Amino acid sequence: MNKSESNDYSTEAMQISNLKHGGNVYAYAKKLNTLPSEIIDASASLVPFDPPQIIIDSLNTEIKNLGFRYYPETNLSDLKEIISKFHGINPDNVLPGNGASELITWAGYEASKYGISYIPSPSFIDYERSLNCWNSNFIHCELPKNWNDIFPQPFPIHSKGDVIWITNPHNPTGQLWEKNSLEEIIKKYKLVICDEAFLSITPNGEKESLIPLTRNYDNLLVLRSLTKIFNIPGLRLGYVIGSSEKLKQWKIKRDPWPLNSFAIKAGIDLLSNKEFYKKWTRQIHSWINNERQRVYEKLSKVENLKVHYSSTNFFLIESKTSLSPNIKYLATKGILLRECTSFRFLDEKWARISLQNKKNNTLLCKEIQNSFKK
Ligand SMILES: Cc1ncc(COP(=O)(O)O)c(C=O)c1O
Repeated sequence: MNKSESNDYSTEAMQISNLKHGGNVYAYAKKLNTLPSEIIDASASLVPFDPPQIIIDSLNTEIKNLGFRYYPETNLSDLKEIISKFHGINPDNVLPGNGASELITWAGYEASKYGISYIPSPSFIDYERSLNCWNSNFIHCELPKNWNDIFPQPFPIHSKGDVIWITNPHNPTGQLWEKNSLEEIIKKYKLVICDEAFLSITPNGEKESLIPLTRNYDNLLVLRSLTKIFNIPGLRLGYVIGSSEKLKQWKIKRDPWPLNSFAIKAGIDLLSNKEFYKKWTRQIHSWINNERQRVYEKLSKVENLKVHYSSTNFFLIESKTSLSPNIKYLATKGILLRECTSFRFLDEKWARISLQNKKNNTLLCKEIQNSFKK
């Protein structure tokens, strides 16, 4: 590759990594004329394990037995039943969705009825998208940029308001919020939306879940995703737990078949077996505990780079100077980081990194070190 080709290539890679979400491996692989699987995608926070065999068996059975001949079951009754049993709640308080993202759109609809939304920021960008869909007003409240390594941490916002969007653990900082401090917030807002997309994969995370509080608070909606834990972003599967009255309204308004038959069947099979689920999550927690420590130690040695503590599988790094040249350099090596200029209150001195498997983490750290020597 000559120098000018190399420059084009890194600029385009930069543009792709500059989108509002991570995980743009298709576009990037196309530019590089390679396969998505050849890229180390540290811009999207997924687990480095193949999806469980249960899913493969489930999809094969569904294709063999029903194929594509029928519309999916519109009431989602069996899936709701399994999810409610899994969490020990009533099926009327569950609504499955086409990924947590679809339910974020509906949470925005709900928020639009109550007034102004508070978004603790930097935050996951989809809350804004959702609120904009419904012409609903929002305010970004700035989160402190420094925190310690003890998790869970008390939620740092104490104001009162109409609606608040909480992410636990928080994206992009990786902070795990303490349940009791969140309960205080529930008492102060007309509506609380808590996105627990990463909670199940976070070591010691489940203890902080607000799902048990949905029995006591009608103003609380908890969003969950199966994307992260089972590494199935392509299947699209998530659910929300909250007031049956609110969820009934969403169901009336939404697409009649938001989930395809295969996602429904996979969800049922994945959540039916608690023993398998426990074993699966144990493996993820142990991967995070080990690799996070190793990566921290390596990156903390890089001069002028601050590594921020995280409770989960992604974390922020902060440099004294712009990280854009480093991100560009890494792109030429087939490694994608999540650049942070699209996050409110962060800039080009920040990047978010998602943990990979041991081999790729070693490579990632080595190339980050090299990027500072350029
Ligand atoms: C905080 C947060 N919530 C929700 C989602 C979307 O999850 P899903 O794939 O279930 O739509 C993401 C995806 O990155 C996320 O970071």
